[in-house]
Amino acid sequence: MRRFFVGITGASGFLYGLRLVDELQKNNEHEIYISITPDAFTNARLELRENDLISIKDKYFNKSNIHFLDYRDFAAPVSSGSFNIDSYIVAPASMGFVGRVASGVSSNLIERAADVALKERRKLVILFREAPLNSIHLENLLKLSNCGAIIFPAAPAFYHSPENINGLIDFIVGKIFDIINVEHSLFKRWM
Ligand SMILES: Cc1cc2nc3c(=O)[nH]c(=O)nc-3n(C[C@H](O)[C@H](O)[C@H](O)COP(=O)(O)O)c2cc1C
Repeated sequence: MRRFFVGITGASGFLYGLRLVDELQKNNEHEIYISITPDAFTNARLELRENDLISIKDKYFNKSNIHFLDYRDFAAPVSSGSFNIDSYIVAPASMGFVGRVASGVSSNLIERAADVALKERRKLVILFREAPLNSIHLENLLKLSNCGAIIFPAAPAFYHSPENINGLIDFIVGKIFDIINVEHSLFKRWM
């Protein structure tokens, strides 16, 4: 069983994280550790019309292979490099998250997990969402890229003719799965 960490932060696009976890947990093949910031929950309320944090957890993250971790819990296993995680994905990632990790600040568990991924030279995919970008954003993203993070803009392509919003989300999730070596059929490949 491979282990993955998924962090969801307060950038727009809670659905990216949700869909990613939903696909990863299918068939019980992987163990998933997930943590969500309070600002991500704010967006879940706005974007998914979900008003209750407990019901979000019960509805979306209640599978036996999903371990839900409190974002303040620095004693959680993913806080340590000695706990083996295959790949770390932050989706969506706020520019606040990007800035803090680029500065070496681990103010919550997701930032700490990202810091661990970088220091252990493990795969870290950062699906950032902001537009337009200022020079601070760009410098922070470059800094993380230079440290080994995979910088992924939340900007779906259209050449696979998506029919609806799910087609756009699935394209992004599928591309992330390509990076973390998880098989999928989330979009039709080119040629
Ligand atoms: C509706 C809404 C949409 C937001 N969208 C973004 C966004 O796309 N990108 C971003 O960097 N911040 C966005 N923010 C701001 C972040 O939520 C805010 O910077 C927050 O402090 C991030 O904290 P976190 O990284 O701990 O989740 C948004 C906030 C709200 C309420």
